[in-house]
Amino acid sequence: METIPIDGKTKIYGIIGHPVSHSFSPKMQTAAFQAIGENAIYLPFDIPENRLSDVLPAFRLLNIQGFNVTVPHKETILPFLDELSPEAKKLGSVNTVLATPGGWKGFSTDGTGFIRSLQHAGVDLSGKKVLLLGAGGSAKAISMALAEENILGLHLRNRTAQKAERLSVLLQQAYPLLPTVVNPSTIEEYDILINCTSVGMGGKGCPVEKEVIRSAKMVVDIIYNPPLSPLLELAIHMGIQFLNGLGMLLYQGVASFEIWTGRSAPIEKMETVLHQTLSI
Ligand code: ATR
Repeated sequence: METIPIDGKTKIYGIIGHPVSHSFSPKMQTAAFQAIGENAIYLPFDIPENRLSDVLPAFRLLNIQGFNVTVPHKETILPFLDELSPEAKKLGSVNTVLATPGGWKGFSTDGTGFIRSLQHAGVDLSGKKVLLLGAGGSAKAISMALAEENILGLHLRNRTAQKAERLSVLLQQAYPLLPTVVNPSTIEEYDILINCTSVGMGGKGCPVEKEVIRSAKMVVDIIYNPPLSPLLELAIHMGIQFLNGLGMLLYQGVASFEIWTGRSAPIEKMETVLHQTLSI
């Protein structure tokens, strides 16, 4: 274990959520600060829903430089912030906050984290037909990010059709030229199938029928625990190219780090720590 040079000048970063004890970010981000020689530490702060309004004044007093935001505060924190990035404004959701001279600025790195993980895997999204499963927070962030990547079309499937309809309306407002279909009645061919539902977490359940999986050239699951979800196991069995959610987790953190430090993140170091932490 490397030594953290904590002294009177150590900058403090962190994550707020409830719960936060399961988060990989404290290890990953603290290791990243050390790797680039930044005198900084990253801590978990367990903040229940009804105490969120106390957090920003307390953080200002403690001179906290920036923090991540996770469940259940990603949307409710918005009214407490002074400025939002265009992505955060569009999504109505924040996972990264930076202390600026003008106040607290909120960002969302969910979408960019996902896109960067695909780029890293050599996937070019331009001109691709995509089937996206889910219509929750992750589906919203990822579909908006996909819409920025010049994809050919987007099909949405969700258990609750109304929620998929609502997401489709939002997408149409922001990206009127993107062809979008909700809960298609026939099975079509897709370049990429992306699971943004929570089905498969902990290794339980597959979010879609085998015939639909077979219709895809590539299957991406944002689930990273287990690294091979039942959906990815099936894709592997069918000989389909696949990708899990570890890359998204890594690149979300990379993007947060770059927002806070204004420097390139030590990606390899962060990836190593993430893998070590997951295998503990
Ligand atoms: P996240 O922030 O991770 O996206 P979320 O907003 O709670 O989490 O969204 C969870 C997604 O998983 C939703 O699309 C949800 O479908 P519903 O809109 O019908 O609730 C989907 N999901 C969760 N459990 C499911 C299940 N057992 N079967 C099918 N879909 C499920």
